[in-house]
Amino acid sequence: MNTIATQLDPRMHPRLDVYGVIGNPVAHSLSPFIHEQFALQVKQPIYYGKLYADLGQFTPTVETFFARGGQGLNVTVPFKLEAFQLCQKLTERAQAAGVVNILWQENGHYVGDNSDGVGLVRDIEKHPFQIAGESVLMIGAGGAVQGVILPLMEKNPGKITIANRTLAKAQAIVDRFLPQAQVSGVQLSAMALAHIMQIEEAYPIIINGTSSGLQGSSPFEPEQAQHLKQIMQPNQPSLAYDMVYGKETHFMAQMKACGFQAKDGLGMLVEQAAEAFEVWRNLPSGSLDTAAVLQMIRKSRL
Ligand code: ATR
Repeated sequence: MNTIATQLDPRMHPRLDVYGVIGNPVAHSLSPFIHEQFALQVKQPIYYGKLYADLGQFTPTVETFFARGGQGLNVTVPFKLEAFQLCQKLTERAQAAGVVNILWQENGHYVGDNSDGVGLVRDIEKHPFQIAGESVLMIGAGGAVQGVILPLMEKNPGKITIANRTLAKAQAIVDRFLPQAQVSGVQLSAMALAHIMQIEEAYPIIINGTSSGLQGSSPFEPEQAQHLKQIMQPNQPSLAYDMVYGKETHFMAQMKACGFQAKDGLGMLVEQAAEAFEVWRNLPSGSLDTAAVLQMIRKSRL
């Protein structure tokens, strides 16, 4: 028996729609606070909790949650791929992402969606940085990057270059999204991170989609960051966005020192949560006040 699943037991909240975030680890998650704020905004009382699953226990934990009346789950590390594989139905953006971060049931079937990419582009645009027509340098080629490429392309950047330590992984993402890139007129290409010094044109938006921030490191050697500074366009603000959130990452500090505006992924977290809440509660996309929630979290962490 999976005793851990009893951490979040929908039967304990019989009068409320129960949602949660499933992960390992999950104790640190800000999602319950964020969803509680959205519920207050729209005056729809729900219960949102944390659901820990042992590695290898994702599916039984999910099944128990829904069998006990749960309404929906956000899925976080390391279960997004397992969630994708569990679903009988996927939204177009989940299909493109290859991973699922929103899960619910319809007529006993699992439905999966992905709001990470929407969360990223909304947060970038709120900073405010325009993506349309601009060149975006994406660092990394793991699941996190694959999950956001399609929504990024839908904002019509002129160019997206994916630079990764392992070139073959960046090339695989390019191959996967090339047909959509050609339709949208986005120049999509891959390069080895080691060749970043060969870049000659400016990228006003650089996104760190690697997990380096979680290891306390940066994907860039100091001279690579310096090179990006040298090719920055004067008179145009440039954004260095780290998809990791929490304290200032090494990448952010490095890029700030080079004159970039550095942002962490906290806004992306709030935006992707808003989209999940809107999907579950059938609210118009973008209708929740995410700025207010983001401000509350930032204040509480000072
Ligand atoms: P996630 O699901 O978070 O994307 P992942 O699929 O394991 O995790 O991918 C991690 C990404 O971070 C990869 O692109 C990885 O590069 P490799 O493909 O070469 O392994 C990248 N990465 C992790 N640590 C890094 C570091 N210190 N410097 C550069 N890239 C790093």
